[in-house]
Amino acid sequence: MHCVQPVAPQIFWVGGNDRRLERFENMFPLPNGVAYNSYLIVDEKTALVDTVDAAISALFLENVVHVLQGRSLDYLVINHMEPDHCANIEELVRRYPDVKIVGNKKTFQFIEQFYTLDKRENYLEVSERDEISLGRHVLKFFFAPMVHWPEVMFTYEQQEKILFSADAFGSFGALSGNLFSDQTDFESAYLEEFRRYYANIVGKYGIQVQAVLKKVAGLEIRMICPLHGPVWRRDLPYVLDKYDRWSKYEPEKKGVVLLYASMYGNTENVMNIIANKLAIKGISDMRMYDVSKTHPSYIIADVWKYSHLVIGSPTYNMGLYYVMEALLREMAGLKLQNRKVALIGNYTWSSMAVRVMRNLIEEMENMEIIGMPFTIKSSMKVEQEAELDKLVDDIYVSVTV
Ligand SMILES: Cc1cc2nc3c(=O)[nH]c(=O)nc-3n(C[C@H](O)[C@H](O)[C@H](O)COP(=O)(O)O)c2cc1C
Ligand SMILES: [Fe+2]
Ligand SMILES: [Fe+2]
Repeated sequence: MHCVQPVAPQIFWVGGNDRRLERFENMFPLPNGVAYNSYLIVDEKTALVDTVDAAISALFLENVVHVLQGRSLDYLVINHMEPDHCANIEELVRRYPDVKIVGNKKTFQFIEQFYTLDKRENYLEVSERDEISLGRHVLKFFFAPMVHWPEVMFTYEQQEKILFSADAFGSFGALSGNLFSDQTDFESAYLEEFRRYYANIVGKYGIQVQAVLKKVAGLEIRMICPLHGPVWRRDLPYVLDKYDRWSKYEPEKKGVVLLYASMYGNTENVMNIIANKLAIKGISDMRMYDVSKTHPSYIIADVWKYSHLVIGSPTYNMGLYYVMEALLREMAGLKLQNRKVALIGNYTWSSMAVRVMRNLIEEMENMEIIGMPFTIKSSMKVEQEAELDKLVDDIYVSVTV
């Protein structure tokens, strides 16, 4: 049985949800599942904008058949060639052998790499700003290279002024019937997952996101239809502002994220003491994570949100505790910038943690180390409290200026 929903006159959501998948890309936990969105426009010509993941193919194909009501599919627009959106291309071509597959050079290159689809005569290669008229509806293509793959395009539908934005503006979290963000309590139901999706999946490509935001800035946009999560038809300035900030690596909020590694609890103890002292001074909304416990994608999401980091780790085999090292390398890989960082190190016989952490932080652009890194030898001693108070003061001043 199909499960579709109108998005605008003659435009239908034909996607679906997966609440069983443990991890997105086999990496990112999905406690609330994930939605794969796909959109079908039924005009004089019919056009499907992207397909879905293999997990929900059966439902998806039923949805498409239902909306087409016996008609054929004229166009299949491929904004993004990642397999979570492309699992049904071959099946659609089998069912609708005359369908024109709309993409760019890279799209077709990737189709042939992933699939065995011997249908070159069906390719319709478009260039930047090319248009395809479906009748009332007209599609116009804006390339969004490296947001977050090289072939990515945005498709703008001129009649309803809808931007089909591929993975951009997407969110983790399945849809609970309500397709539109304004039908949900977005900040409690999706915002954290929206940010976690951005930071981890798109975060590295801030420059490219800025470029495509500028490209579409002149368009009148009434709706943004991403490939995952809620559709935007209200509060567009809200969501555009989030993307603008995130892609400029500007924190959303002044505040402190404390993240630590600890085997025997001594580094952890220092982190709790720092948070306690900051709280007494009046810092609110702090977040603290044990990097061995919390999946890095959640920590990275909060690092994207807040302005200040306190990072603590023991020395491990003449280097840095490797879970912490992996997290800091991932942050550098995602091109995190513009944060202020205080460092806490711990060792028993040879101090390395602070040095490695500092080097990794200095690989990132525009990062400021606050005050003097604080180091303990196995455990913190009362005599070190004045030194720690100095660092806490420096953090406090840095957050409150
Ligand atoms: C496998 C392993 C390797 C370690 N390697 C080092 C090291 O190379 N240099 C060092 O000074 N301490 C090393 N340590 C000791 C810890 O860094 C030290 O005891 C620290 O105080 C532990 O902090 P915690 O209480 O927060 O876990 C190692 C500990 C373990 C278990
Ligand atoms: Fe993707
Ligand atoms: Fe995706």
